Amino acid sequence: MRLVAFGIGYVGLVTGTGLAELGHDVLCVDIDPGRIRQLEDGIIPIYEPGLADLVRRNERAGRLRFATRVTAPFDEADAYFIAVGTPPGPDGAADVSAVLAVADTIATTAKKPALVVVKSTVPVGTCDAVQAQIDGGKKPSVALEVVSNPEFLKEGTAVQDFFRPDRIVLGARSDGAREMLRALYAPLQLSGERVVVSDPRSSELTKYAANTMLAMRVSFMNELARLCHATGADIHAVRLGVGSDARIGKRFLYAGPGYGGSCFPKDVQALFHLGRAHGVPMRMAEATHLANEEQAEFLARVVESAIGPLDGRAIAFWGLAFKPETDDVRESPSIKLAKALLAKGARIVGHDPEAAKNFAGAMASYGDRVKVVDRDYDALDGAHALVLLTEWRSYRAPNFAEIRKRLRPSDKGAAPIVVDGRNVWRASEVVRAGLRYQGIGVPVVDPPPNRAPTAQR
Ligand SMILES: NC(=O)c1ccc[n+]([C@@H]2O[C@H](COP(=O)([O-])OP(=O)(O)OC[C@H]3O[C@@H](n4cnc5c(N)ncnc54)[C@H](O)[C@@H]3O)[C@@H](O)[C@H]2O)c1
Repeated sequence: MRLVAFGIGYVGLVTGTGLAELGHDVLCVDIDPGRIRQLEDGIIPIYEPGLADLVRRNERAGRLRFATRVTAPFDEADAYFIAVGTPPGPDGAADVSAVLAVADTIATTAKKPALVVVKSTVPVGTCDAVQAQIDGGKKPSVALEVVSNPEFLKEGTAVQDFFRPDRIVLGARSDGAREMLRALYAPLQLSGERVVVSDPRSSELTKYAANTMLAMRVSFMNELARLCHATGADIHAVRLGVGSDARIGKRFLYAGPGYGGSCFPKDVQALFHLGRAHGVPMRMAEATHLANEEQAEFLARVVESAIGPLDGRAIAFWGLAFKPETDDVRESPSIKLAKALLAKGARIVGHDPEAAKNFAGAMASYGDRVKVVDRDYDALDGAHALVLLTEWRSYRAPNFAEIRKRLRPSDKGAAPIVVDGRNVWRASEVVRAGLRYQGIGVPVVDPPPNRAPTAQR
């Protein structure tokens, strides 16, 4: 088939490239000329494992092209995918103006009947609004059917998720559209049917429901972790006990620094705004959002109570991306925690294998109070605490003796502290190196007396 994908971001680039890999002829379109220039120069504008090779291979094979607008023969495409951003507007409701702008472009460009596939995450009713806009305009002279096909890929495993999706959700009104999409996605379902077919409105809501349900689990575990701190309970034990119930399951039950990224925070908010617009309060979504907003403040208090007044002190961050295997720092807990600590007078020195540049860009207004370094251990020199915020593999088994050597002890004369914001390190190993260990929702663990520092540096 001949296909066009609008929006060369995480979703559009992975989808367009994945479809090209399946043998289709694909044009990826973005309004950002800088992005197109980068791709023409062989630079992949986002970091996503496996993507660069796939892009190059399909470009070389002539199945994948990039442009700022649709040109022949792609004005006779079989389907147009909309994968542009739907960021929160000023009140938190989803802003679908980019989706509507692309719909206009498609309506005035398409020269043969085609599907308009909305992959962007959009509020219920958007596909109908897009259809009405297309049908109401002067153009098109050809029939265009709008279908909902929300994207469920996860940054960091997006390529893998494209080729082995858990499910493919489709919302279409006509049998013809359903059949065409089934045919398009058939190569991804050789091991069994993964398509969930419904109407566009149910399909649109499914995406918000899934993200909010996952975010809810995270926020609930984070609230429980705070209760553990207050009561002396241990979140690991609670998680195992709760997760062994088959109805609940152990996955996605980890306490941490709060959820981030370009999806959960905005989608949870979009859901409760959608509820408000329809007179249906979505109290669970609102509480999920509030609990998440509070988590960075909670973590800042944990750091402060561990090392005393933060004024002028450097705090090292390992991990700046909102999750491993991505360079995305949108709504990252690292940014929220950095802001909370900066407000208390601290300085931040961060390291991340892929996201340091994006973090530095996002924090540029703080000048030299926020620094990033190229080598992970260099972030520790002179810092009063190390906070692990993203569980990249390269941070999983660090040299704690080296960390101990480089960190400064707090004024209280106690051992330097590491705050394991992802609960991935073994406290016993950390304290053996003469460090204090503070995880999320677990009691602080001090080093044995003979490993405590004898003098302050
Ligand atoms: N990132 C994810 O993990 C993920 C997962 C599932 C769903 N989604 C949803 O998919 C959508 C896209 O997300 P993303 O993270 O890929 O976005 P992104 O911000 O990475 O990329 C969006 C791209 O769209 C381009 N764009 C904006 N207006 C345009 C227009 N009129 N024509 C052509 N291009 C235009 C932008 O320049 C940008 O390059 C959002 O609705 C998001 O909620 C994202």
